[in-house]
Amino acid sequence: MTDLHVVVGATGGTGSALVRELLRRGHRVRAVSRRGGGPFPAEVETVAADATDTGAMVAACAGARAVHNCVNPPFDRWRELFPAAVRATIAGAAAAGAVLVFADDTWMYGRVDAPMTEATPVAPACDRGVLRAWLADTVLAAHDRGDVRAVIGRAGELYGPGVRSVFAGTLFGAAVARRPAVWPGDPDRPVTPTFVGDFARVLAVLAEQDGADLGRAWHVPHPAPTTGRAFAAEVARQAGAPPRLLPVSSRAARALGLVLPLAREGAQLVYQFEMPFVVDGTAFTARFGGPAPTPYAEGIARTLDRYRARAAAA
Ligand SMILES: NC(=O)c1ccc[n+]([C@@H]2O[C@H](COP(=O)([O-])OP(=O)(O)OC[C@H]3O[C@@H](n4cnc5c(N)ncnc54)[C@H](OP(=O)(O)O)[C@@H]3O)[C@@H](O)[C@H]2O)c1
Repeated sequence: MTDLHVVVGATGGTGSALVRELLRRGHRVRAVSRRGGGPFPAEVETVAADATDTGAMVAACAGARAVHNCVNPPFDRWRELFPAAVRATIAGAAAAGAVLVFADDTWMYGRVDAPMTEATPVAPACDRGVLRAWLADTVLAAHDRGDVRAVIGRAGELYGPGVRSVFAGTLFGAAVARRPAVWPGDPDRPVTPTFVGDFARVLAVLAEQDGADLGRAWHVPHPAPTTGRAFAAEVARQAGAPPRLLPVSSRAARALGLVLPLAREGAQLVYQFEMPFVVDGTAFTARFGGPAPTPYAEGIARTLDRYRARAAAA
């Protein structure tokens, strides 16, 4: 069987980390995004295609052993574009006889006080959570019907080189620019930020499976929980910036949303940072083994390297 892995959404934070991980594991990689291109090593085939276009996905996935859906439509167009992107990547993987790996988040679980496991009930607390529940269900229902072999890798809020997320935007950029960092919600609640390299490894491992390991979701393993305050302090320490944190409550975020449409979209997610946000990946480790998840200090150092390089280039 071919070992070609097609990464759709390859130029994003998750997709580009996954391309590197797949190359490291010796796979051939085709990198797909709307604009196409890299930057990727020369051995990576790059294709420009729209994930919401079924015909384009069937063509882009031809010959694949695995298709990775790492697409992230613009935040304010999720409802309009994500369902089509999920359906079309299912069709692409099915036509190729490939395993479909869906890069997922945890918003479908809603308000959870305990660590989130794969057995945590799906009870979304905002419309984006409802959408995420539907997307995951669509992927797993296609697997159950036998339309495609599919599996889901689920991460918490990401950080890492090239990542766009709450942590990326508010902590790292601020520390490098010596600005106070904005923290949505309560900075003293336990959190498990997901290093994007750990997410990429989980997706790559899942793509290499068959049989009973498919047809379900797996959580990314994390180090022991930290807090927003401790994580932000380590970012500031390594960046040589003062550890100044400005917590923003749901109420303040909603008020901002009255004037800024994108803030309105983000405000519905702040609840997650006002309670524990702990993702438990012990099932994955028990089944597939190590290496240990990236320690926060190391993940922060690797992320800051990228921010510094970008600042130097600018
Ligand atoms: N960021 C987080 O904190 C986080 C946490 C957990 C899970 N996730 C999930 O992981 C997945 C990937 O997220 P990410 O943050 O890594 O994404 P990202 O950095 O925002 O990158 C998005 C990628 O999708 C591509 N894309 C967008 N629309 C497309 C379309 N119609 N057709 C083809 N490609 C398209 C983009 O390239 P072009 O614009 O060139 O097409 C880009 O390569 C998403 O499902 C996201 O919800 C993210």
